[in-house]
Amino acid sequence: MPASVPGRAASILSILALALLAAACARPEAPPAPAEAIAIADDPHSFARPEEVRVTHLALDLTVDFEARTLSGRASLTVDNPAGARELVLDTRGLEIAAVTLGDGSAAAFALGDEIAGQEFLGRPLTIAIEPDAEVVHVDYATRPGAAALQWLDPAQTAGGERPFLYTQSQPILARTWVPCQDSPGVRMTYEATVRVPEGLIAVMSAENPTAEQAGGVYRFSMPQPVPSYLLALAVGDLGFEPLGAASGVYAEPATLPAAAWELADTPQMIDAAERLYGPYRWGRYDLLVLPPSFPFGGMENPRLTFATPTILAGDRSLVALVAHELAHSWSGNLVTNANWNDFWLNEGFTTYFEGRIMEALYGEEYAEMLAALALGELRATIEEMGADAPDTRLHLDLAGRDPDEGMNDVAYEKGRFFLRTLERAVGRERWDAFLADYFDRFAFQTMTSAAFLDHLRRELLTPEEAERIGLERWVYEPGLPDNLVAPTSERFAAVDAERQAWLDGGAAAELPTAAWTTHEWLRFLRGLPDSLPPARLAELDQAFRLTASGNAEIQAAWFRLAVAAGYRPAYPALEEFLIRVGRRKFLAPLYGALAATPEGKAWALGVYERARPGYHAVSRGTIDEILGWEEGAETRASA
Ligand code: BES
Ligand code: ZN
Repeated sequence: MPASVPGRAASILSILALALLAAACARPEAPPAPAEAIAIADDPHSFARPEEVRVTHLALDLTVDFEARTLSGRASLTVDNPAGARELVLDTRGLEIAAVTLGDGSAAAFALGDEIAGQEFLGRPLTIAIEPDAEVVHVDYATRPGAAALQWLDPAQTAGGERPFLYTQSQPILARTWVPCQDSPGVRMTYEATVRVPEGLIAVMSAENPTAEQAGGVYRFSMPQPVPSYLLALAVGDLGFEPLGAASGVYAEPATLPAAAWELADTPQMIDAAERLYGPYRWGRYDLLVLPPSFPFGGMENPRLTFATPTILAGDRSLVALVAHELAHSWSGNLVTNANWNDFWLNEGFTTYFEGRIMEALYGEEYAEMLAALALGELRATIEEMGADAPDTRLHLDLAGRDPDEGMNDVAYEKGRFFLRTLERAVGRERWDAFLADYFDRFAFQTMTSAAFLDHLRRELLTPEEAERIGLERWVYEPGLPDNLVAPTSERFAAVDAERQAWLDGGAAAELPTAAWTTHEWLRFLRGLPDSLPPARLAELDQAFRLTASGNAEIQAAWFRLAVAAGYRPAYPALEEFLIRVGRRKFLAPLYGALAATPEGKAWALGVYERARPGYHAVSRGTIDEILGWEEGAETRASA
């Protein structure tokens, strides 16, 4: 039992149920657990007790109301209750529960438990009295306008400007803000949904999707493979669709669709490369949805339908590693899933490694190593900022009692990637690739923990000497960066470093040989500049290369950060426009953070934030509120 969620009293009923469960397990006819199955790890971020009763299928029937900003309808949960438990516990946060009925139509007693002080992000347990033989439980409910997973956009916040837009973001623990469910990555369910939307809008989900408008605004979806709740996703808007290949395509607002289809044209080749590396793509189609710019992440690996920020539409395909990343999650994360968020690195580190391999397959080793080198630079900066002893620089995290969102930083991604690169280097690519392909196959549709992964490595891949030499435990359980990390090398970046130094030593901007520089050389150049540059030197760069006017979001973010550090005011109007239009937290947090470092910067940032904040998703709002010390209802402070 996840006893680490404090304050949850075990009822007599659940103790009884556990006893029954234990008895059932002892029965000879109980099917033996597969040898390789990973036990459901306790999840400190869920009230659910899947070890007693487990949801195996979800049927949603929801009406999308843009005026009221609510979803309302019914969630019907099919349960597996081997020991005849009499309680089903679901996670909910901010849901309005109207009624609960059982499959036979009888009303079921239910109660919403209390929030835990200091852990309000967990929401409340919904405890439902069930008959031991109940197979289906219907929950009639509605969301409230502030539901954290949902972002309701006014027409003005879309590219088309005429129709509203809605999208969800469920990872890590926001599914419970729009669906009553066992909101733990250790619980998988198949799902189906009927979604009713206003005439003229299209609904899409992380499921089998229509590619055209449906008469009457009624959309039906089905996801036949079992998925954890954090992969539940819905978007509704004025969407068009453009095929990219036989089994992949892109959805976007009509105004964005041509640019999106052009930028993402390599997607089918990425799918081929991924399958050649680590086995068949198991989800049918792979489509992408390019969202309005407020989307708080770069991408989200919703199965069959990756959600993506439009900030990857740079016009030169230089930012498509994001597609490789979200696609790779179709194996690491969506097939083999972290059992709880403490082992987030098993999703993201594996995916970042796999992403690198896809990029290498499509664009060559030199290019992929440049991306890895940039990422390592960012990782070192993160670890330096956090402190090399900081507990959150470990791969295996301890997030109990905290919002899991808090401990999720690029350590899971990049330290995870470099750990896997170390393993690859130790045993050779051939052995490693065979191991990894087998891993995705053997544990498909199951959960994984750090401990189980290390056991598996020792059993299937490494000799005791190899394991010892690599230092498995140190990589996974200790903070900081182990010294056997193999850093990527890049001649092109070495050249950029030399050119940067020459310019810093007083060279002229015009002498920088930038003609052949790609986005990545620019990022290397900009990220390596010191914060202490006088504004006049930034003006020099700006005049030579028009950086303030760049249309590449990664370059803009790096440039604006320097501009803030140096107090280079001519960049501020463009920075303001960027902060108001773009809601991607990875860009916003460092920019607001840099602004907040000086009193004048902070005052300016508060003024911009007051206007930008209504356009941000709750995920980004939460982070920026904290950076700026923003309190709800204190808006007047900005102008004071
Ligand atoms: N699954 C993540 C996004 C995520 C992580 C959402 C944690 C909620 C909590 C997604 O796959 C991701 O990693 N996105 C990255 C882009 C990627 C190219 C590194 C992002 O959003 O920046
Ligand atoms: Zn990811």
